Amino acid sequence: MTILWDRDPAAAERFSFALGPRVNRVDSGAALSRALTADPDEDAVIVGPDVDLDAACGVVEGLRIEHTSLGVILIRRRLDVTVLAQALRAGFREVVSSDDLPAVAEALRRSRELSFRLRGAGPDAATRTGKVVTVFSAKGGVGKTTFSTNLGAYLASVGHRTLLVDLDLEFGDVGIALQMLPQRSMTDLVNMSGHLDEQGLASVVTTHSSGLDAVCAPAEPGEAERIPPATVAELLRVARHIYDFIVIDTPPALTEHVLTAFDLSDTLVLIATLDIPALKNLRLTLDTLDLLGSPREARHIVLNRSDAKVGLRAEDVVTSIKQDIAVMVPSSHDVPASINRGVPIILDDPRHPVSVALRHLADEHLRGVAATASPSGATRRLLPWGGRK
Ligand SMILES: Nc1ncnc2c1ncn2[C@@H]1O[C@H](COP(=O)(O)OP(=O)(O)O)[C@@H](O)[C@H]1O
Ligand SMILES: [Mg+2]
Repeated sequence: MTILWDRDPAAAERFSFALGPRVNRVDSGAALSRALTADPDEDAVIVGPDVDLDAACGVVEGLRIEHTSLGVILIRRRLDVTVLAQALRAGFREVVSSDDLPAVAEALRRSRELSFRLRGAGPDAATRTGKVVTVFSAKGGVGKTTFSTNLGAYLASVGHRTLLVDLDLEFGDVGIALQMLPQRSMTDLVNMSGHLDEQGLASVVTTHSSGLDAVCAPAEPGEAERIPPATVAELLRVARHIYDFIVIDTPPALTEHVLTAFDLSDTLVLIATLDIPALKNLRLTLDTLDLLGSPREARHIVLNRSDAKVGLRAEDVVTSIKQDIAVMVPSSHDVPASINRGVPIILDDPRHPVSVALRHLADEHLRGVAATASPSGATRRLLPWGGRK
């Protein structure tokens, strides 16, 4: 989410091209401070063209001390040297013309990238521990559940406190893929909204034999609509203080719940397959992420069933999405067989080519370690933000 300080109720709509659909508009400096206290993880604020410059500079100067990784962007109708100098002295990251919405979008993306890097090394890192990894594809049947269950089980098995969250709220099958019988689900979190704590969260998780904890999707598809996106945000915030990794499985759609997860994710695993519709959807997803200001270095593209002989090659994927593929996962009958047995292949057959590929993804791109060494206490201490190289 992005905070927009602007007195005009229509401003969020006006700037939606640049800021995306998820904007929290506030109408005063005091309301801005309150919004940042309520959501300390927020890292982007836009100050609209009608806000008085002196007032905005005063507020931003104050924010610099407490919110060290926050980026504030000023929008003005006219840019001149005096405005630029005053704004930059006060601590605005960028000043952009209100006529140039692509420039506003680009400034927001740059600012988010900087905040992301600052948070990785900055003082907030001590209080924010767990790393949130969202596995997504806008297409069904491409391997989201396979990857998220295997990654979660692997991370847990090598000693990381790991939580798997099933955000496929209508048709989630994390419970089945891991052969677990959840007694409680995401629905039970709704009653705890606003005051979820460690005990509350512990009361809804189901633990797999690998040590992986999971918050499963509701048993009935109809329950999904009772779960507000704010519950997901609260779950992730609380979980981050308890777990080293939170892996999120998703439905094949950009639901409000998924957008909330994107907002709070450190890493995105985006699945590509060698078919044109899936590639088109991946491109649209990447465009949406650009619009939301999600940092590009946080995205890892994984090509599933990479050896399929279907006329499209991995090079074509790279050309189409203009981004490298992090990991290629081959196709194998052993994958559905392992799901049917309810045992993640990565644990059952660690030398299987699919397991090797997924372990590479976990070790190099999520944990930030080059080799599959078993974690010692020291590695563990280094790990919470280890993926941010
Ligand atoms: N690399 C693979 N090789 C063979 N089958 C796979 C592979 N990855 C996924 N599958 C199978 O494809 C089907 C869909 O995978 P799933 O993870 O449920 O997709 P999603 O969660 O994206 O809908 C499952 O039957 C799964 O076993
Ligand atoms: Mg799935």
